Amino acid sequence: MEPQHKHKFAAVILAAGAGTRMRSDLPKVMHRLAGQPLISHVLSSLKPLSPEQVVVVVAPGMESVKEECTKVTPDCTFAIQDKQQGTGHAVRCALDNLKGFKGHVLVLYGDTPLLTHETLLPLLEEKASHDAAIALLAMRPDNPTGYGRLVMESTPYVERIVEERDATQDEKNIQWVWGGVMLFDADFLRTQLPVLEPSPVTNEYYLTTLVDAATTRSMRTLMVPMSVQEAMGVNDRVQLSEAEKIIQKRLRRNALEGGATMIDPDSVYFSMDTKLGRDVVIEPNVFFGPGVSVADHVQIRANSHIEGARIEKNTVIGPFARIRPGTVIGERARVGNFVELKKTRMGNDAMINHLSYVGDAELGVGVNIGAGTITCNYDSIQKHQTVIGDYTFIGSNTSLVAPVVIGEEVVVGAGSVITDNVENDALAIARVGQVNVPGKGKEIKRRKRKTG
Ligand code: UD1
Ligand code: CA
Repeated sequence: MEPQHKHKFAAVILAAGAGTRMRSDLPKVMHRLAGQPLISHVLSSLKPLSPEQVVVVVAPGMESVKEECTKVTPDCTFAIQDKQQGTGHAVRCALDNLKGFKGHVLVLYGDTPLLTHETLLPLLEEKASHDAAIALLAMRPDNPTGYGRLVMESTPYVERIVEERDATQDEKNIQWVWGGVMLFDADFLRTQLPVLEPSPVTNEYYLTTLVDAATTRSMRTLMVPMSVQEAMGVNDRVQLSEAEKIIQKRLRRNALEGGATMIDPDSVYFSMDTKLGRDVVIEPNVFFGPGVSVADHVQIRANSHIEGARIEKNTVIGPFARIRPGTVIGERARVGNFVELKKTRMGNDAMINHLSYVGDAELGVGVNIGAGTITCNYDSIQKHQTVIGDYTFIGSNTSLVAPVVIGEEVVVGAGSVITDNVENDALAIARVGQVNVPGKGKEIKRRKRKTG
């Protein structure tokens, strides 16, 4: 990606906090927004700015966080904060990783997932032009509770930041708060962090105390305003759901602008990585889990749930379809109501129109699967494959007991339980033959009438 600025900077992301307010067994930054962990949102917002270095501060044992970070930013490094002694202490833990680094250090919190790189850019620009030791993103939320208040004598310069828990009533009334992003000179951090004073109230080392340190040394801290929405921190599940609302709004807008039609956008849910072609029509109540790509001219009808799937052009999916991971649906194919697909490849022009479960299967071109067909893919110990050749027709209510291979242009009779392979061009019927007993029907009815 092309860097849009000329400032050399390293990024430090704090993610070691216990996240107590989430009441969760999962590290806070692993909670998902639009199908993607909070930490990945932050890492992704940095990418277009091409940082020289990315350091993530984690607590001991946060292996899942490390794994996720490495997926998004393979060359990021980790600093371990053994004890959570505050945000200032956390950044200090990252100093070793930044050894020898000259330039700016951008500190971000792993729990502010709505930030965009467009908002981070002015911070880099402004700090340089104001000759400030610190630049920070500031906002004016309707309700400042929980955020650090900015004490300013002459805007845009900040004297100090007062944390909620340490603030007097007057200070609590301050409207401007810190949005959780700060930019420093690397050298300033290296000299000031080791001598940072803990809060007398909580005994924690706050990153925000560095503003005091700058003021004391007659250095400037500059505030750069940003939108309240982007600075939103996720500390509990109420905020998580509010952030989800905001991000879904963005994703819906992107989808509409990208050429998709939605009858009721507010009822459609996307993942960060959902890819939509042109002229895709999405009916109400559709959910896209992670890993879905949809080609041009696809119709996704109401109440469908889709994850981990590639859908080729001109197909019609749903209503009421469930498409599970590992599925590829060929061009012009049809997947109808109450059909569940898992790890299935459907060839071009294949059809599964009603009430079926097809899993671990490979369907050729033009295959037609009758209503109520089930691939019996699980034998209580292992999963097995079902392979169906081009232009084969499977009659309604068939059970395909895998592993099984059915050839091309086969016809399978309705109600069959297919356990053996079927060769090309054959008719396969596997059910008890029908018996017609002449006159018996009438006899039964007469008997019933007498006794009833
Ligand atoms: C913090 C700021 C507050 C700001 C707000 C913006 C401080 C002291 N307060 O408050 O001024 O308005 O963010 O959202 O910085 N963390 C660690 N190690 C620690 C403590 C925290 O890594 O020892 C990490 C957390 O995982 C989290 C981030 O730092 O990602 C912020 O911590 P959090 O407790 O959420 O701070 P806030 O109370 O939201
Ligand atoms: Ca927070």
